[in-house]
Amino acid sequence: MPSAIHAENISRTFSRGKIRALQDFSLDVETGIIFGLLGPNGAGKTTFIKILLGLTRPSTGSATLFGVPTERYHARKRIGYLPENHRFPLFLTGSQLLDYCGRLSGMHSKAERETRAELLLKRVNMWQWRNTRIKKYSKGMMQRLGLAQALIHDPDLIFLDEPTDGIDPIGRKEVRDLLLELKNSGKTIFLNSHLLSEVETICDQVAILNKGKLVSQGSVHELTTSDRRFQLYIEGTPQQIEPVLKEHTQSVIAHNDHYEITVRDNKALNAAIDSLRQQGLLIEAIIPHKQSLEDSFFQAVRGHSETDLNTLFETKAKTGANDAD
Ligand SMILES: Nc1ncnc2c1ncn2[C@@H]1O[C@H](COP(=O)(O)OP(=O)(O)OP(=O)(O)O)[C@@H](O)[C@H]1O
Ligand SMILES: [Mg+2]
Repeated sequence: MPSAIHAENISRTFSRGKIRALQDFSLDVETGIIFGLLGPNGAGKTTFIKILLGLTRPSTGSATLFGVPTERYHARKRIGYLPENHRFPLFLTGSQLLDYCGRLSGMHSKAERETRAELLLKRVNMWQWRNTRIKKYSKGMMQRLGLAQALIHDPDLIFLDEPTDGIDPIGRKEVRDLLLELKNSGKTIFLNSHLLSEVETICDQVAILNKGKLVSQGSVHELTTSDRRFQLYIEGTPQQIEPVLKEHTQSVIAHNDHYEITVRDNKALNAAIDSLRQQGLLIEAIIPHKQSLEDSFFQAVRGHSETDLNTLFETKAKTGANDAD
C-alpha cells in the first residue's frame, strides 16, 4: 500500500530565492496514523501543506498522496483541509457553508449532504448554531465549523493547520477525541500545531521542522525517551558507587536517592552494571530518562537562532495557547 504522503526533496523559495521556506524536505506518512508537524513560526509547515494540496508549487522536488502525484487533480479527491486563518463567507450560515463545501467536494446528492452535515454539526457541537450566520460566530465556533467542513465528504486524509487555534480547553479535548475517533476508523491525519503537549498526547509520529529543514523525526516515544540517559537506584555508599559509574559513563549526577547517568551506548550501560554488581552493589532500578516533547523540541531547534524560539513564545502568549491544559 502506498504511503498516505510521500514527499521527496521538496524545496520552495520565495522572494526570488531570498526566503527559503523549505529546503530539501523529504517525508513519508503511513496511512492510519496521526502525524504532527512541529516547528517555530515561519518554519515552513503551512508551505508544506500547501504544496501537498497543489496550492503552491515546489521549486524543486515532488510529492504523492496515496501514490498519486500532487499535481494531478485526483490526488485531492480523498483529502480534507482545514486551512490556517481561514476566511469563510460570513453571510452564510453554518449549514449553508457545509452544503457549499459538500458540493465543491463532489457530493451531488442533496440528501447525502444534509445527512452528513447534520452528523458533523452535532459531532462538533454546532448543531444549535446551524442557522446562524458565520459572522456571528466566535473564533472557537468558526474553528469547529472549519473542522466539520474539512470532513464533509468523509475524506481519507485530513490536513489540519492549527486545528485547535482559538478553541478553549474543553473544546480542545473534544477535538482530540474526534481526531482519535477518525484515526480508529482508518483515516490519516496530518496536523500542524504549536501545542506540543497536544501533539504529544495524540500523535503517533512527529517531525520537527526548523527554517525549512527537517531537524528531527520519529515516534513520540522515540523523541521523548533517551537511550543514553538513565536514572539508577543503587544500594551503597557514594564512595563505593561513584568511582565505578565514572569509569563507564560520560556524566554522573548524584541526586538524593539516585544517580542520573549519561552513557555512550547500551554497551557502556551494561559495563557499568557489571562493574557495580562485581562490587557486590545491589541495583534497585534502572529507568530510562523521559523528557517532554517540549524538551525534545527545544533540543532539536537549539543551535538555530534564538529568535525563532522567542517568536514561538510570543505567538503562544498572543493566542493564549497554553500547553498545560
Ligand atoms: N506567499 C509567500 N510569499 C513570500 N514568502 C512566503 C509566502 N508564504 C510563506 N512565505 C515565507 O515562507 C516561510 C515559511 O512560512 P510558513 O507559513 O510555511 O511557516 P509556518 O511554519 O506555517 O509558520 P506559522 O507557525 O507561523 O504558521 C516564512 O518565512 C514566510 O514568510
Ligand atoms: Mg503556518
